[in-house]
Amino acid sequence: RSSVVYSSLSIACLMLNSSFAFLSLPQLVRYAQTAAAPAPEPKIKTFQIYRWDPDTPGDKPRMQTYEIDLNTCGPMVLDALIKIKNEMDPTLTFRRSCREGICGSCAMNINGGNTLACLNKIDTNTSKVMKIYPLPHMYVVKDLVPDMSNFYAQYKSIEPYLKKKDESKQGKEQYLQSIEDRQKLDGLYECILCACCSTSCPSYWWNGDKYLGPAVLMQAYRWMIDSRDDFTEERLSKLQDPFSLYRCHTIMNCTKTCPKGLNPGKAIAEIKKMMAIYKENRSSAI
Ligand SMILES: *[C@@H]1O[C@H](CO)[C@@H](O)[C@H](O)[C@H]1NC(C)=O
Ligand SMILES: *[C@@H]1O[C@H](CO)[C@@H](O)[C@H](O)[C@H]1NC(C)=O
Ligand SMILES: *[C@@H]1O[C@H](CO)[C@@H](O)[C@H](O)[C@H]1NC(C)=O
Ligand code: SF4
Ligand code: SF4
Ligand code: FES
Repeated sequence: RSSVVYSSLSIACLMLNSSFAFLSLPQLVRYAQTAAAPAPEPKIKTFQIYRWDPDTPGDKPRMQTYEIDLNTCGPMVLDALIKIKNEMDPTLTFRRSCREGICGSCAMNINGGNTLACLNKIDTNTSKVMKIYPLPHMYVVKDLVPDMSNFYAQYKSIEPYLKKKDESKQGKEQYLQSIEDRQKLDGLYECILCACCSTSCPSYWWNGDKYLGPAVLMQAYRWMIDSRDDFTEERLSKLQDPFSLYRCHTIMNCTKTCPKGLNPGKAIAEIKKMMAIYKENRSSAI
């Protein structure tokens, strides 16, 4: 064991030596100055975070308070959560992966709005408390982790992939698209399926089992208008019941909250227009 300690000490010395060896004289002087500078005034920010652990018998949901010095924390809410977990309370549970608004894992309700913790700046006004809850009206697995099973099953149900009537060309050549047709997908394909929009929608809160919600409907629309897809009418036909699509009452919470700046409310309105034409087509065919 002592030899391990000795060797890790000597590695640390080596690292120190080599890092100093790369510094020029002015850099060394600056380094010495920063080292000597007095610690800045602490900026203590209070976070109140929803906690619930189903593995602790009888545990009831509660808010737990954490205080963080913003001088030693990164700028985003996710930085604060990671700091709490690393330095204060390893039991705090939340999802995250990319820390740059790409994976959609860190969606949660921060100060009353659904957003991504990694894209949301900590309000540096220390007299305001930051309140963090899981996405609203979802079953909670633990703390800030919602159960996404129903959301993913709904996404699967719209068959979110290219479908061709004639598959004989599959794997033999590319399915080309004009520049204009490709542009129709802008503002739709960027969705990261974080579910911030669906869980801000009152219709989804009350009918989440049967109403598909804005995120999934926008992806349904994305495939309906893809010039390469041959199943537009079948895709529309699947949404004809009173719930899947028509529970949207254009309240527009969804568009307001999307952390990627997308407009699922508009996509739903476009599906409703397509559906009207589809129904007209069908009745005139009879
Ligand atoms: C900080 O928040 C408090 C309470 O909401 C408010 O009164 C104060 O003006 C804010 N300070 C700044 C610098 O915005
Ligand atoms: C959504 O809208 C309802 C009613 O308009 C409102 O009470 C609620 O706070 C909103 N929720 C979110 C998460 O934006
Ligand atoms: C309606 O019918 C027209 C003409 O057959 C067709 O081009 C169009 O794709 C149809 N639209 C829908 C939404 O079914
Ligand atoms: S539309 Fe926006 S809020 Fe909704 S799932 Fe996609 S990225 Fe998230
Ligand atoms: S516009 Fe439709 S999907 Fe969006 S929040 Fe309102 S009811 Fe929900
Ligand atoms: S951690 Fe990936 S979106 Fe926030």
